[in-house]
Amino acid sequence: MITRVLPPDENAVCEAAGLIRAGELVAFPTETVYGLGANALDENAVEKIFLAKGRPGDNPLIAHISGIDQISSLISGEILPAARRMMDAFWPGPLTMVFPKAEKVPMRVTAGLSTVAIRFPSHPVARRLIDQAGVPIAAPSANRSGRPSPTRAAHVLEDMNGKIPLILDGGACEVGLESTVLDVTGEIPRILRPGGITRQQIAAVAGAALVDPAVLNPLKPGQQVRSPGMKYRHYAPKGNLTVLGGAGAVREILNRYDRAAAAGKNPLILALESDFSSFGNRRVLSLGADARDMAERLFSALREADALGADPIFSEAVSKEGVGLAVMNRLLRAAAFQYEEV
Ligand code: TXA
Ligand code: MG
Repeated sequence: MITRVLPPDENAVCEAAGLIRAGELVAFPTETVYGLGANALDENAVEKIFLAKGRPGDNPLIAHISGIDQISSLISGEILPAARRMMDAFWPGPLTMVFPKAEKVPMRVTAGLSTVAIRFPSHPVARRLIDQAGVPIAAPSANRSGRPSPTRAAHVLEDMNGKIPLILDGGACEVGLESTVLDVTGEIPRILRPGGITRQQIAAVAGAALVDPAVLNPLKPGQQVRSPGMKYRHYAPKGNLTVLGGAGAVREILNRYDRAAAAGKNPLILALESDFSSFGNRRVLSLGADARDMAERLFSALREADALGADPIFSEAVSKEGVGLAVMNRLLRAAAFQYEEV
């Protein structure tokens, strides 16, 4: 199959919508990361997503909508008041909410769960595509399973070339990390995956917000998870990545880098701009000035590390406040939880 990459003008979006209706896959930009979309109500189309990504069958997908009214046919039961307030405050935007599912949502989408995850993205191309397709679009991030999520069309092409007919190129994604996944089936909303909408923002609207323990800790053998995606090694670069935090982080990174270089390896540092000058002429990629910048650049930097053949990789940590929680969640998974405070 030839994979075409098109700017998202009217013709291209119209063609993409036609492909979705015909049961094919289309990659499209959202404000978080690129999605790999299929008609959420077409079981065979959804199956193609799992094949193209090499995704484990027990990891459910998010159904994307382009208007709040579309939610009613996808969920069952009443929307609880806290969930309603979330929608009013954060939709459209980088927030996914988990509800009891309606009968008509295929089990393939929810991986057999009785709940369905729903997101109303703010990106104009995503919204136009869903509108024109006239169906909810099931879409995971458009990477091969285990690779960093794509934040540029070129990243999607790296992973999906020859596997899908069309990529809509909307440029770089603004947020850069996937949406916050929030379970709103209980009384207090619970963050299953942190993202662009922070715990503080959610708590300010809902009164309180829980953070699932799986967000920052490795799973114990046999431990049940509320969000199956948390089980898998994710976002992983090919090189061995270690995250270093604390007052001694810069010095420790310098030491380890120099030892690796002396041993003939190809080390790389991921650093905040403010520490850049400390690393001299060593190989460093900038993660920007703060947690927001890091969110936007992290996945791209991990892919670049692969392209450079970097191994080992040392990254600075960031505070787990605000968007920093999402950044550290992704960074720790990419590092298989190799994190040291020094
Ligand atoms: O920003 C995003 O959310 C992107 C864009 C494309 O919208 N999508 C995305 O999808 O990141 P994906 O499939 O890569 O991640 C979906 C996450 C997984 O961790 C999955 O386990 C969780 O959402 N999830 C989906 N349905 C769920 C459900 N019913 N209950 C709990 N977790 C669910
Ligand atoms: Mg993903």
